[in-house]
Amino acid sequence: MLTVAVLISGTGSNLRALLDAAADPGYPAHVVVVGADREAEGFSHAEEYGIPSFMVPWAQFASREEWGAELGAQLDVWKPDLVVLSGLMRLLPASLVDRWAPRIINTHPAYLPEFPGAHGVRDALAAGVDQTGASVIIVDNGVDSGPILAQERVPVLPGDDEHALHDRIKPVERRLLIDVVRRIATGDLDLAVAASASSAS
Ligand code: GAR
Repeated sequence: MLTVAVLISGTGSNLRALLDAAADPGYPAHVVVVGADREAEGFSHAEEYGIPSFMVPWAQFASREEWGAELGAQLDVWKPDLVVLSGLMRLLPASLVDRWAPRIINTHPAYLPEFPGAHGVRDALAAGVDQTGASVIIVDNGVDSGPILAQERVPVLPGDDEHALHDRIKPVERRLLIDVVRRIATGDLDLAVAASASSAS
């Protein structure tokens, strides 16, 4: 059974989907802890499932490095096989990424490398594209620049605003995330191989 730590900042709908999937005894991964950089709404999902949580409040640390050191210390307590960033809206310090890579993945509401960053949905709308997407990547030290593990297109519809488009992207993200975590757990997807294949290309 693959053990997973999930880090969030917000509503945690992707976290919720992963917890629901993992409730099936046939699913080969289990969320062992949920962490956040703030008092996140998504903690309620962890609570409902009786899963421990921790908070490392961004605002209480003098630097990204110090905040990341505490986050890393919390992860070291739980020693998960995999760390999933699911709406964690903070860049991690390189020391933490290097400690976990390639066993740290991120979901993103765009078809990377298109529209990286904190406003992937808004930026796609502003660019006037007729399709965007969802991606799951390995985290590296860039902004949403790591090896792509899965992605799928989502059309932009006439009249879409940021909320409506994000609401259509999220179910795709959830499906991709649940599938990627399953494939990592079963050995179908080898993160070390995916990371080195990408750095060789
Ligand atoms: C998700 O769409 C996730 O991909 C995005 O935040 C949302 C979190 O939703 N993350 C990023 O944009 C990171 N660059 P959730 O809290 O409901 O799961």
